[in-house]
Amino acid sequence: MNELQLELKNQLKKFCLEKIEPHMEHDDETEEFRMDIFRGLGDLGFCGMTIPENFGGAGLNYQDLSVALTEIAKYSVPYAVTVSVSAMVQAIINDFGTEKQKQTYLPKLTTGEEIGAFCLSESGAGSDAASLKTTAKKVDGGYIINGTKLWITSGGIAKTYIVMARTGGEGAKGVSAFIVRDGTPGLSFGKKEKKMGWRTSPTREVIFENCFVPEENRLINEGEGFKVAMAALDKGRITIGAVAVGLTERALDEAVKYSLTRQQFNQAIFEFQGLQFMMADMALELESSRLLVQEAARLYDEGRPSQKIASMAKLKATDAAMKVTTDAVQILGGVGYTREYPVERFMRDAKVLQIVEGTNQVQRVVIARQLKKEYQSH
Ligand code: CAA
Repeated sequence: MNELQLELKNQLKKFCLEKIEPHMEHDDETEEFRMDIFRGLGDLGFCGMTIPENFGGAGLNYQDLSVALTEIAKYSVPYAVTVSVSAMVQAIINDFGTEKQKQTYLPKLTTGEEIGAFCLSESGAGSDAASLKTTAKKVDGGYIINGTKLWITSGGIAKTYIVMARTGGEGAKGVSAFIVRDGTPGLSFGKKEKKMGWRTSPTREVIFENCFVPEENRLINEGEGFKVAMAALDKGRITIGAVAVGLTERALDEAVKYSLTRQQFNQAIFEFQGLQFMMADMALELESSRLLVQEAARLYDEGRPSQKIASMAKLKATDAAMKVTTDAVQILGGVGYTREYPVERFMRDAKVLQIVEGTNQVQRVVIARQLKKEYQSH
């Protein structure tokens, strides 16, 4: 970690301990999202880290963003994910938007005044994203969007939505990407999902009923929306990996601290080799995940092919988070299963990391396809 990253980490630690940690148990119970926490992260410059300074961002890179997300996730996976998904929306606008689109939408996102959301999934199009059915019919001056998007992180609290909709025939080549603002007539929100974890982060249906979107809100060319979504997910998979690393680190921390103080059979339970081996394996999972996430971010920052390693980082780090949080509950035993200690929440927050931004089965598809390409090109 370089000096700047160390400084960012320390700044975040202070903010999270003061502003996030005290609310986490309560807000997990009541499913409350606090916009003032998100804005606080924005005030410190953590909501638009990778966007150029002329659009209100911090002009940093994905290695820096990964360090920040790991630190936030030690205290709250839901807030880390809100920052991560909003960063993905900003990256889409920054990479594929016109100068006018960047000027219009980026500053409020980079400063944390507003949140961004990414609308790809539908009831019949989860892993098979290219089969999406939402349509964008060309009309005079723009498009009419009809359809329902599902499981949208920050649905209802976000102001800017990137929406993938079909302008052409079947398959990936018929998909285009649009920017749709909250408040646009025809855009509404469906039910808020009742979830196992990530309870502080609202997940909703986003519904489009004859929703007119002007032509100037389309991102790049018609038919290139699927590529926009996939390129965004290549980065999103690095940042979700970084979130998983933070959760893993915190779960290990809780397990080690507890095992050093909990006495059974006249000694701290840490002294039992069975538990030492478990914690050694947990530490190994943590450090190997961190290295893979750092490597994926470094490759991306250097403009080198990063898709395969990004999928590996997401797969490894989120599986590690699931395993380590489960083992942390086991080490704490009876109290680990109660809400008196945070590890049961960590275990619930880990599960969906293996599902979002491409299930860990989809990550294997991406890795295998890249392997095939590499071998065929030799
Ligand atoms: N970058 C740029 N273009 C890409 C790309 C990438 N990473 N991956 C694929 N493409 C292009 C391909 O080159 C191809 O274009 P050409 O025909 O011109 O070459 C086109 O896109 C179609 O690609 P595929 O044939 O590979 O598409 P596929 O239908 O076989 O799907 C898949 C591949 C990897 C399974 C993909 O559908 C996928 O990633 N599915 C998972 C979806 C997903 O991750 N959803 C997450 C939802 S968002 C979320 O979870 C956020 C949140 O709330 C936290």
